[in-house]
Amino acid sequence: MSDLRIAVVGLGARGYLASLVHKPGEGSRVVAVVDPRRPEPPFDVPVHSTLDDLDLAEVDAALVLSPDDTHEELAIRLLTAGVATFVEKPLAITVDGADRVLAAARDAGSRLYVGHNMRHAPFVLAMREVIASGAIGRVMSVWCRHFVGNGGDYYFKDWHADRRRSTGMLLQKGAHDIDVIHWLAGGRTQAVSAFGDLGVYGDITDRRDRAGTLMPDWFDAGTWPPSAHTGLNPVVDIEDLSVVNLQLDNGVIATYQQCHYTPDYWRNYTVIGTHGRLENFGDFAGSVIKVWNAGRSGYRPDADLEIPVPADSHHGGADPAIMAEFLRYARSGGPTLTSPVAARDAVAAGYQATLSLRDGGTLMEVPPTDPDLAAYFG
Ligand SMILES: NC(=O)c1ccc[n+]([C@@H]2O[C@H](COP(=O)([O-])OP(=O)(O)OC[C@H]3O[C@@H](n4cnc5c(N)ncnc54)[C@H](O)[C@@H]3O)[C@@H](O)[C@H]2O)c1
Repeated sequence: MSDLRIAVVGLGARGYLASLVHKPGEGSRVVAVVDPRRPEPPFDVPVHSTLDDLDLAEVDAALVLSPDDTHEELAIRLLTAGVATFVEKPLAITVDGADRVLAAARDAGSRLYVGHNMRHAPFVLAMREVIASGAIGRVMSVWCRHFVGNGGDYYFKDWHADRRRSTGMLLQKGAHDIDVIHWLAGGRTQAVSAFGDLGVYGDITDRRDRAGTLMPDWFDAGTWPPSAHTGLNPVVDIEDLSVVNLQLDNGVIATYQQCHYTPDYWRNYTVIGTHGRLENFGDFAGSVIKVWNAGRSGYRPDADLEIPVPADSHHGGADPAIMAEFLRYARSGGPTLTSPVAARDAVAAGYQATLSLRDGGTLMEVPPTDPDLAAYFG
């Protein structure tokens, strides 16, 4: 079996995924990097400034790890050229953009894979198993609280903070959790109403153009309180606090809450069913899923079922798993835990939620994927 020849398009903070697929002689290797920054890759491969300089006939697969606003154009060009393409989440920054990527994959018959690595995160898989076991009955509601303690460093000091490049955090960051909510609930959002604010980071006047540098260069876990952050992106017009209610097409009602100035950084889900409730305590190694389903009580820290989450429950567990699945899919196709249509549905819900938020909470419908397109991927 010859190595799958992979181009890495965007070698920034997320570029470490490249090292997970560079296995010369073992089935896959990176053969080129495309990045206008012209970074030095950890492997001896040519670096191109633009996709125009890459001979697409010389690559079998690509990882698109560039900023969100570039995904649509880059993915369409790669897919149209017949390249099996991994696109980091979010698939695109608009609903129409996401639909155009799906259509390009279908029209070219190329393999599209979207990087929703939370579907490979052990704590999410453990929650799915609890639901599938019937332990909480039929899912009625999913509530996710997302404490983005590193938000100041991760999202307010570069392109993420500019809505022209990310749309907003309900799409940029929320796409992960909206997708997980859909996956746990077995439906897709059909209507949203959202509220939000730029209440803390908007007041910080110390701004800096950090072109040429990357997030790890400025990350400082010691910055506290959040108002002490300096060097924010020159444009900061996204929200640092957002709350959205989601109505799913199967009757499930969900809520997603995201704050970028909490002291802690983790996600807390609860899923309420007709016969019980589950909740995750922690989302990394050492975390546990608790289930209460034996009867009524007041607050009771001891649960009726406690499922320890496997020790590799962090990005480090999800990322090798998603890369392995992409390589297998790029080579041979077949079923995957992630889904292009689900990735599009997460974009659609996050996009419409952002419109709602910026329109005072107006109820917004979330358009479904064109049925023919959905059927193709289904
Ligand atoms: N799945 C996850 O858990 C996860 C985590 C972090 C980031 N992401 C996603 O990964 C993507 C990259 O994020 P990041 O934090 O690495 O960003 P980054 O800013 O650190 O790196 C982006 C890189 O892409 C390059 N780039 C810009 N325009 C380009 C173009 N037209 N062609 C090729 N390269 C280009 C930049 O020069 C930079 O080196 C984003 O879409 C982000 O949402 C996903």
